[in-house]
Amino acid sequence: MRYLPLDAITPEMMLARPIFNTDGKVLLSSGMKLLPKYLERLREMGYEHLYVYEPGEEKVDFTAPISDKTLSEAMLSVKDSFAKAHLRQHLNLKQVTSVIDYLIDEILQNPAVLYNLMDLKNHDNYYFLHSINVAVISTMIARNLGLARDKVKELSMGALLHDLGMVCVDPAILLKDRPLQQKEKGEITEHPKFGFDLLRNEPGLSIFVAHTAYQHHERLDGSGYPRGLSGDEIHLYGRIVAVADSFEAMTSHRAYRKPYWSHEALAELKKEAGVKYDPEVVQAMVDSAAVYPIGSVVRLNTGEEAVVVDVTATKLTIQFSSGPRINGIYEMAADSELRIEERLS
Ligand SMILES: [Fe+2]
Repeated sequence: MRYLPLDAITPEMMLARPIFNTDGKVLLSSGMKLLPKYLERLREMGYEHLYVYEPGEEKVDFTAPISDKTLSEAMLSVKDSFAKAHLRQHLNLKQVTSVIDYLIDEILQNPAVLYNLMDLKNHDNYYFLHSINVAVISTMIARNLGLARDKVKELSMGALLHDLGMVCVDPAILLKDRPLQQKEKGEITEHPKFGFDLLRNEPGLSIFVAHTAYQHHERLDGSGYPRGLSGDEIHLYGRIVAVADSFEAMTSHRAYRKPYWSHEALAELKKEAGVKYDPEVVQAMVDSAAVYPIGSVVRLNTGEEAVVVDVTATKLTIQFSSGPRINGIYEMAADSELRIEERLS
């Protein structure tokens, strides 16, 4: 399974990960032949990359952090929460809590699972998938920090709803295809406070959930916003979501810049550990994410090229895509003679 830009996809390739609409319904299921009319439509919808199988490629089972069912329910729940917040109606907390329970159960039941898939965002589902990814990454960080289940739940809920305040920002500013101007940035910097105000008025919701939204853009050295809090003034949940959100944003495609690859985003976080980010949280993030996610094309120390077909905390499986072992599957152990030298795409 490869993660390829649309331009590199040919009609004989098959879709390897489903495409969901914003209601969480499957629009194109995996196994579909990628006919030119589908590709054209996906391009119009703003997709940049897809997961595909090459013709005749052997399908390798991989370990995803959450099931497609939970992903689909989370999409629906986040979309509904944003819609309700937009209308200043109360959220359906029963539904959000149920999604969070599934998400946490799936991640905690599988201690070796990593954040290993690049997602498939477009302009319609950007904030919904971003919110879900930040919740998944934050939950993994919390798992690695050893947080108790009730705390993980508060944190995950705050992570899922961290950008809820975006509903109060002029939609024309969001998802601009260029870097934002000063005035636009000013309006966006209000969203943590908007989110806090929306969430603290939700009956039955922990105030820590509201504070997570309030603090997710604060930075350890006081350089963040909206209040410029520093150090321990920022709650642990805020420090966790800051790291998860930054990683997710850096590895996402924006129209005006290419996404960082995972290893580049992790290096960036490490560089800022102790300055902008809590170093322990950064370490837990590094332990949570695949350096080379599934679908990455890599060059090995032997000069051969290969595709990463599965990765967990304990094993990395590749399929050779060049050389005498082409199409062969190989499980790289820690003491394996094969090493990845470089990510190619
Ligand atoms: Fe945000």
